[in-house]
Amino acid sequence: MKNITSEMLTMLHQEHIAAHMKKQSAEKQIELVEQINGLDLSVLNNVDASEIRGKIEPISATTLSEIENNREKFTQTGLNAIREGKVGAVLLAGGQGSRLGFDHPKGMFNIGVDRRLYIFECLINNLLDVTRAAGAYIPLFIMTSADNNMETRNFFEENDYFGYSPENVWFFVQEQLPVVDKNGKLMISEHGTVLTAPNGNGGWYDSMAKTGMLRVVQNAKIEWLNVFAVDNVLQRMADPCFVGAVIESGKVSGAKVVAKAAPEEKVGVLCLEDGKPSIVEYYEMSEDMLYQREADGTLSYNYGVILNYLFRVDKLNSTLSVKLPLHRAFKKIKYMDEKGAVVVPDEPNAYKFETLVLDMVKLQDNCLAYEVDRSKEFAPVKNKTGVDSVDTAQELLRANGIEL
Ligand code: UTP
Repeated sequence: MKNITSEMLTMLHQEHIAAHMKKQSAEKQIELVEQINGLDLSVLNNVDASEIRGKIEPISATTLSEIENNREKFTQTGLNAIREGKVGAVLLAGGQGSRLGFDHPKGMFNIGVDRRLYIFECLINNLLDVTRAAGAYIPLFIMTSADNNMETRNFFEENDYFGYSPENVWFFVQEQLPVVDKNGKLMISEHGTVLTAPNGNGGWYDSMAKTGMLRVVQNAKIEWLNVFAVDNVLQRMADPCFVGAVIESGKVSGAKVVAKAAPEEKVGVLCLEDGKPSIVEYYEMSEDMLYQREADGTLSYNYGVILNYLFRVDKLNSTLSVKLPLHRAFKKIKYMDEKGAVVVPDEPNAYKFETLVLDMVKLQDNCLAYEVDRSKEFAPVKNKTGVDSVDTAQELLRANGIEL
């Protein structure tokens, strides 16, 4: 590959990076050239054009009452699959958690009040419920980022994996993409390199392939992967009833969903797009869609996703070559200004480019919408205060009998 030169940076309207490079030692200059050569600079042309959507229709869900009526059957099917080693869990923990403003991996946040209870600990406790019921460990893959990988690994080590078996845990690092400011300019990190950020939670399967994790999946003959977010402290992963329901349905994927609290709730909803499962973000929904109701009075677009999906591995393999759309997210990201001072912004200042796991749902032939009770399974920790915050998550944990 051709080395990046000042001329090339000028062509890309990134003269300030060439100027920054010139000020560095010869050694540092070589490092920078190497870094820039390895970056995907095509993101600089990303204008986040709104996607053209197909025909959107409501999707029917397996509702709470249907699940209750079949709980035993689904649970047995799921437990059998887990015992046979067919189910793996993938914890997405590469995010920056910029809204929470906690300067460590989000899973290290202590949500306890009178006792210590880390977010990672909550998740492992929930997973241990399943391993106890199944009498078998579930292979757990933890996706980290270049920024938080070492800290996350050390934290698990120091805490004895919160009682989980280390032989059943694999860490892998997701990839990075350049970050740009409001004017589309590359930025400099506090280390003097070009500023990059994790490439979004949609990169998980691709990163599993690139880091050799798929060999582990293949060797262990794992057939299903349950993918979930780090920041829902009531998250139930490798949930046998969910796994069993998806297997019994004959579908190739499943999504845990919650009934919307109100038509205007800001949540992406699972629906059908040209007959395929798809997620429409709240800001993409027309007024008609928001308030449309079925004959029984329920909202037609009623099922919000909570970032807990089950995918069949053979179907995921067939989507590996598909390039997912890139989304831009405006975030608070620490950087170095032109005077060499490190700036920790109070307000969003930079665009990060991300692929999203929800775009993988569209690549599946079908998806079981599996309804869960939000008061029992959905306590996201996104913000410091207010909506989806530490306070609301603590309240929900207490309501579920968890001492804090
Ligand atoms: P969010 O979309 O909430 O992003 O992630 P975030 O970076 O954690 O937080 P903010 O927006 O900066 O406040 C949802 C889930 O996807 C994971 C997160 O760790 C979380 O589990 N994620 C997100 C990744 O693993 N990698 C990413 O690049 C982004």
